[in-house]
Amino acid sequence: MLCLEKRIVIRVKDSINNKDTLVSMSKGENLLETLASSKLSIFSECGGRGTCGKCIVKVVEGRLKITLQDKASFSTSELEGGYRLACMAYPDMDCTIILSSRRNTDYKVVTETLNHPTNTEYSKIKETSHPHTLTYEKKAYAIAIDLGTTTIALALTDLPGGNILDKYTAINPQRVYGADVVSRIKASNEGKLNSLALLIREELLKGILKLGEKNQIKIESIDNIVIAGNTTMIHLLMGYPCNTLGTFPFAPYKDGFINLLSDEIFGISEKIPITLIPGISVFVGGDITAGLLACGINREDKPCLFIDLGTNGEIALGNRERILATSTAAGPAFEGGNISCGVGSIPGAICHVSYEEGKLSYKTINEEPAVGLCGTGVVELISELLKEGIIDSSGLLKDSYFDEGYPIAGMKFIQKDIRELQLAKAAIGAGVDILVKSYGISYEEIDKVFIAGGFGYHLDINKAAMIGLIPEALTRKAIAVGNTSLAGAIYLIKDSDTKNKIEHIILTAEEVHLSNVEGFNELFMRYMSF
Ligand code: FES
Repeated sequence: MLCLEKRIVIRVKDSINNKDTLVSMSKGENLLETLASSKLSIFSECGGRGTCGKCIVKVVEGRLKITLQDKASFSTSELEGGYRLACMAYPDMDCTIILSSRRNTDYKVVTETLNHPTNTEYSKIKETSHPHTLTYEKKAYAIAIDLGTTTIALALTDLPGGNILDKYTAINPQRVYGADVVSRIKASNEGKLNSLALLIREELLKGILKLGEKNQIKIESIDNIVIAGNTTMIHLLMGYPCNTLGTFPFAPYKDGFINLLSDEIFGISEKIPITLIPGISVFVGGDITAGLLACGINREDKPCLFIDLGTNGEIALGNRERILATSTAAGPAFEGGNISCGVGSIPGAICHVSYEEGKLSYKTINEEPAVGLCGTGVVELISELLKEGIIDSSGLLKDSYFDEGYPIAGMKFIQKDIRELQLAKAAIGAGVDILVKSYGISYEEIDKVFIAGGFGYHLDINKAAMIGLIPEALTRKAIAVGNTSLAGAIYLIKDSDTKNKIEHIILTAEEVHLSNVEGFNELFMRYMSF
């Protein structure tokens, strides 16, 4: 006799959208993974290991067992109130849950891009002012994609000009498997590669179709797609095994440009050529190659410094003849990760902090009620507390705040949060120092400093210098250049000769492995101080 397994139904109440969604799952399935595959995204910074305490749901009907990780994350009254970690929950009955109001959605994604800088001018890649009045024209368009670990950004451009007509941004849905590349590699190695690939392919296709629909462009009139991303993101998009990325031999599955057709990964009938920009190494990926190209480092006579401030801080120093590049594990603090009251760049994130006349004030994204601190908020709060002597040069909070933390917007900024930022800024500071020494120049000889990435775009350079994230000597030379990965992808769309330039960058670039450099640990410890 046929025995049909009884499915469990989870009613998910979304307080933000005021919407209920019914999700069906089998006994023994994980709640966080089920929510993610149903596109109900919540914070999941640690990738489901039960350590970040951010994948919060509240059970209002039914029951979810209390786990050890729940006990570590919630007070007794919160547990009694139904609060649980979704990543530790394996429902065995129908339930109704409410998603936490602090959500892993609505990120503000920086898509601003810059044209090749000249010595005197930094102009934006041209954006047309009437993107919605287009008519169908055969093969007249292209799509550039920045495939980031946290977010993705797509730009629809015309051809041959490469002018941006419209953009689409989204959270990288693979975040359910962790905020950083290490968690994703681990998930891939544990049998989740297909799920990871499917998640990102679906999101990219959704973006491509939305851009087409919104601008009345048929998909067959898209001539080509260029994608720039770090090595892990490219592997997870292509479905390549990641087992050599995180361990010896630290080598990609494939070197060089990857060319394919859209039907191979998107399951559509159209065969649009796709080009993936190659990286310099496993650790310095195609997003950085694209960034160096976008900043024009391959054309500069004098050495320029490029810093991409993200979970992995990638740093490059060089000119048209020689480039040194490295990657340093800065951790997720610049994106609000591993900070007790940290959030991504979402509405309500505290992004600016100032302390005047004994009073702390702050600004939030979209001026919404404060929900936490994003990366720039963390940097600015620490720089203000340093200025006021509330944090000392070793990073210790004053005695009066040491146990409970410093209060801000009803939250507490605790000692551990300061340590997280110290680790991140020490990784960058030591990395820059080693590249400058290895290049054999002084800080004064650096001509320009390009600060890339979403975090860097909104960073107050002076406050960043105050905490030692950017060397004092370089603040006057620093320029926030936005999403250079997207900009580099657009350059390849505009000019096919750009392929030679990318190959030139890769040929002239040499990777520096920080952990192999003598004295790195001492330098790192030195940069921990403020
Ligand atoms: S605690 Fe659940 S994802 Fe981190």
